[in-house]
Amino acid sequence: MKIAALKEDAAGEKRVSLTPDTVKKLVDLGADVLIETGAGEGSGLADHIYQDAGATIAADSAGALKDADIVLCVQSPSDAQLDAINENALLIGCLAPLDKDTDLQRYNSRNITSFTMELLPRISRAQAMDVLSSQSNLAGYRAVIDAVYEHGKVLPMMMTAAGTVPPAKVLVLGAGVAGLQAIATAKRLGAVVSAFDVRPAVKEQVQSLGAKFVEVEADEADGEDTGGYAKEMSEDYKKRQSELIAETVKSHDIVISTALIPGKPAPRLVTADMLQAMKPGSVLVDLAVATGGNIEGSKADKVATKHGCKIIGYQNMPSRCARDASPLYARNLFNYISTLMVDKESKALNVQWDDELIKGTLLTKEGSTVHPMLTNEESAA
Ligand code: NAI
Repeated sequence: MKIAALKEDAAGEKRVSLTPDTVKKLVDLGADVLIETGAGEGSGLADHIYQDAGATIAADSAGALKDADIVLCVQSPSDAQLDAINENALLIGCLAPLDKDTDLQRYNSRNITSFTMELLPRISRAQAMDVLSSQSNLAGYRAVIDAVYEHGKVLPMMMTAAGTVPPAKVLVLGAGVAGLQAIATAKRLGAVVSAFDVRPAVKEQVQSLGAKFVEVEADEADGEDTGGYAKEMSEDYKKRQSELIAETVKSHDIVISTALIPGKPAPRLVTADMLQAMKPGSVLVDLAVATGGNIEGSKADKVATKHGCKIIGYQNMPSRCARDASPLYARNLFNYISTLMVDKESKALNVQWDDELIKGTLLTKEGSTVHPMLTNEESAA
């Protein structure tokens, strides 16, 4: 069993899909591990550290991919890398199949069996493999750090001989994985934090982190669907929510927005009018920028300015803390492979095709797109 990890080709991607720690674990599982030279550089992992862990360093992608049975990546491989992957190899990463359908055709034309980790069913036994959670958590942390960097105001109250600095006020919109970490980070740094979410179930979690929960008074009290995710709210609720956010943002220095309804465009929560009413120099971070944005005026991978406010729209926050994002991502992949793809006794590849976690992540097999979310789209195209 040969497993290769690629050097990421996507612009600005510093993460890597294997770390020395996971190389050792894979070697213990019976694998030969190949790492493309320089793959770990963005995460502070030099080639020799991988070698010490038992990996072989390949001089280029083709060298790493030659004979590889499993190919690991963070984002989907470049065209040149794809061309060098063996027929019938298993490709595992965050392949963004909904955005990159042309890649699926390439996988199919080469008979590559591909698995995408973003579509992993979020059930208890999959928690240790859940890349969305491990990476969103870091995104929430980094959103606060970037906001502080852009703002120029300190977060904690400071009483000094020269006077008292009031604490910064931070508002977090959406208290899911990223939002809860943003709340915790801003609190640790000394800010006064408020948070808002359509799911009242998170109120206790917000309060346990020491933040104030901002609530919309409406008949429609529960914004949670049966799967525990947010659902689309009524027009009346949205109007009340908009009024409440408009009033609340005026007094805040920093807004971190993370609102997501699965499968829908990001709900627009902060409008240009609201920005105009904020204190000049306020900073907003729109983590949902890739799905349309929660904040009017946010731009992908830019710090935009609108009505005197800065809006940060970085799409790949985890890469901005790659030294921790990579080990967590690599462990997620290791847990997935070791649980679902390897027979621990014979130390041979043994994919559990009937497992719901495999079925939930499998994109292409034997030259066809097989994921239920994609088969309709592909046949319609
Ligand atoms: P999550 O599903 O855990 O949390 C989203 C939260 O938004 C939920 O608590 C939900 O109830 C809440 N929400 C939905 N509609 C709302 C509304 N109208 N008002 C207030 N709250 C609302 O998702 P997670 O993992 O925390 O990700 C949050 C967002 O950040 C997603 O859009 C995700 O794609 C994005 N993200 C961006 C990254 C970046 O680098 N820019 C990295 C990781 C995640």
